[in-house]
Parts: sequence; C-alpha cells; structure tokens
Amino acid sequence: LCSQDLAGKKVLITAGPTREYLDPIRFISNRSSGKMGYALAEEAYKRGAKVTVISGPVNINTYADIEIINVQTAFQMYHKVKDIYMQYDILIFSAAVADYRPKSVSENKIKKENRDELAIELVKNPDILKFVGDNKKPGQIIVGFSAETENVIENSQEKLKTKNADLIVANNVLEEGAGFDVDTNIVTLISKEKIENLPKMSKSEVAERIFDHVLTYLCKM
Ligand code: PMT
Repeated sequence: LCSQDLAGKKVLITAGPTREYLDPIRFISNRSSGKMGYALAEEAYKRGAKVTVISGPVNINTYADIEIINVQTAFQMYHKVKDIYMQYDILIFSAAVADYRPKSVSENKIKKENRDELAIELVKNPDILKFVGDNKKPGQIIVGFSAETENVIENSQEKLKTKNADLIVANNVLEEGAGFDVDTNIVTLISKEKIENLPKMSKSEVAERIFDHVLTYLCKM
C-alpha cells in the first residue's frame, strides 16, 4: 500500500482573489478569502510536502515554512505561475482569478467631474490553469476548482476536459456553507473515472480529501 505521505513532493497552490485595477486606488475583485487555498497549503505541509502559495490579497497567517508569493492581479499571478510551475509535482488552482480586467488602467485617479456615466471596457485575462494544463510536464498532477451557480456538474466536467486537469473540485457557490468566505465547503470531486459528492465539511477536511485523491494518482505512477 502507498503511504499517506507527501514527503519529497513539491506542491504549488494558487489562492485568494485577484484585483484588477481601474486606477491607482480602485479595483474589481471578488469575495474569495483564501481560506480554501491556505487549508490546502497547510494540509500539504502537514503531509511533508514543500509548499508554495501564489496568493492574491488575503488576511491569513500560516506556517513560516510555507512559502507565500504575493500578487495582486491575474496577470501577475499568471506570470509567477509560468515562471515556476515546472518545478512542482502537484499543482492546485483554488484562486478566484478575475476572468476580465479593465482594458486600460488610468495612471491617475479617475475624476467624476463632468460625467454622469462611466463605462469600463474589459478584456479577457489569461487562463492560468489552462496554460499549465496545456503545457503540463509528464507526471505532474493538476487539480482545478470550479465555482458555479448552475449546471455545476456539466460545467465542471467541461473544465476537466478543456483545461486538461486530472481532478476538478466543483463547488456550488450559492449553497449555504459552500464557496466564498466561509469556513466550510460542499464539493464534488470530478475526475475522468468518477464523480464523488462530499457532504458539508470544514475546508481543512476538504483539503484532506483532495490530497487523499491526489495520492491515488501518485500511487499509480
Ligand atoms: O477563498 P475562499 O473564500 O476560501 O473561497 C474558495 C473558492 C470559492 C474561491 C474556491 O473554492 C473556488 O471555487 N476557487 C475557484 C474559483 C474560480 O475562479 O473558479 P472558475 O470556475 O471561474 O475557474 C475554474 C478554474 O480555473 C479554477 O481552478 C481557477 O483558479 C482557474 N482559473 C480561472 C480563470 C483564470 N483566468 N485562470 C485560472 O487559473
């Protein structure tokens, strides 16, 4: 039997929200607290892995031995991941990355004088998970998340395919006790082989279940 142990493994996790700036003081973001991502980091660390978190702005303190790389925008997160992802064995994408960013960022504070309406043009951000999925090194295990409000399973199965992930952790972010900024989550683990519905549990327990699943892949290698 394979031991429940990540000793010698390198784990990279994206966590938290991104901020997409309009001007020096304003940004578009979302409600991600980073709790899910940091729970994953701590679980991997406890199992003996060397852990790096590429983190959007959050208010979480964690173990000193977990390396935290702070970023703000999706673009910064993308470039950081691109720079280092090749060095890792297990990659987990729990960050709530903004799909769009303002087309231009004003150098100075946008003024309200002389205008009653203001339109913001948005352009698409790079898909970090898809980039890694498409450029994955043999042996790397890739876990994506899926935040949905409808057709959760179908949409998440689609992400498993299009983003070339080994596992998708789907959460219906409208359910009470699931998703953004709470201590619990209700997830479905979706792989090519099976769909496993988990009951509501703490984000630490969800993290345990995710790594239990990842270990079944490691054991097969
Ligand atoms: O941080 P918490 O408050 O604890 O909340 C946890 C969470 C709800 C943020 C988390 O459980 C979660 O669902 N994270 C994924 C959020 C998300 O952006 O999902 P998505 O379905 O839009 O994206 C699918 C996957 O692609 C995700 O793994 C995402 O990280 C990744 N992605 C998306 C867009 C993009 N440009 N780059 C990406 O890497």
